[in-house]
Amino acid sequence: MAVFCRSAASVLKPVRFVPSAFANIRQCSSGDQYHYILVDKKGEKKNVGFIQLNRPKALNALCEGLMLEVGKALDTFEEDNEVGAVVITGSERAFAAGADIKEMQNRSFQECYGGNFLGHWNKVSTVKKPVIAAVNGYALGGGCELAMMCDIIYAGEKAQFGQPEILLGTIPGSGGTQRLTRTVGKSLAMEMVLTGDRISAQEAKQAGLVSKVFPVEQLVSEAVKCGEKIASNSKIVSAMAKEAVNAAFELTLAEGNRFEKRLFHATFATEDRKEGMTAFVEKRKAAFQDK
Ligand code: HXC
Repeated sequence: MAVFCRSAASVLKPVRFVPSAFANIRQCSSGDQYHYILVDKKGEKKNVGFIQLNRPKALNALCEGLMLEVGKALDTFEEDNEVGAVVITGSERAFAAGADIKEMQNRSFQECYGGNFLGHWNKVSTVKKPVIAAVNGYALGGGCELAMMCDIIYAGEKAQFGQPEILLGTIPGSGGTQRLTRTVGKSLAMEMVLTGDRISAQEAKQAGLVSKVFPVEQLVSEAVKCGEKIASNSKIVSAMAKEAVNAAFELTLAEGNRFEKRLFHATFATEDRKEGMTAFVEKRKAAFQDK
């Protein structure tokens, strides 16, 4: 098991787990390194990166510090060859109740525009490894946007999704008007963005926003199981598959199909493609090397 400690240069480095040193390292993984999140590796093979938002008193409101830490943890998992997928979750009460309103309250336009306020949030949608959001409780405003930046959303049956920014005199600023509309269609997206009304996990499932709904207490383990399944495939080919699906949001059908075909051809440059097909023919399980 690897956990994460701060090196002399303040760069996050995976540290190999030594059982006798467990207590100290555990403390380091969630105490010294991160203030707003808990970071771990889950699954039987410890191949699923795990990020838990951890500001319970503020219902995981996404302050800048928290989102910077999420970015750092994702960077670490990107570099960790053992990790094949990442799960982001919150608490049973709240995935995240949005961007931190208290932090935003007194900001000026000049500060927001000049400092590219929240520009770094995009990190979540640009990592190569698949990211699964496990959403229990509130996923509101930036919380809903954070979930939508992930590749797969699983929801607990009491989850609530919403874009209530209009009630604060502002609008979604991290993809809410764009990703939600592409996912659930214009009418429901408009209704959510213009009224601030929330939808339930079941409604979100029906609208295609989430792929599966689970009992609250099973949600995280099911998300980790999904992560393990993904991590057992070739990481390099999974990255291509993710890139191809994401291209569907940006390209025309003709361009997207052409892009997909090029990536499909590119899989033939990998050893894992050869192994996968050979394993099928030899009636055995493929042993991918991520090459
Ligand atoms: C800062 C927040 C917060 C937020 C909750 N809290 N949401 N603090 N930013 N987004 C804090 C409350 O101030 C309170 O702390 C504590 O969390 C518990 O919240 P309560 O309101 O007392 O809980 P409850 O009555 O159960 O109501 C839960 C809730 C409500 C329905 C989720 O808190 C709520 O409406 N929150 C705001 C949701 C929202 O508008 N989100 C969008 C934010 S704008 P104290 O210390 O006061 O007791 C946004 C823009 C994104 O996300 C733009 C780009 C990223």
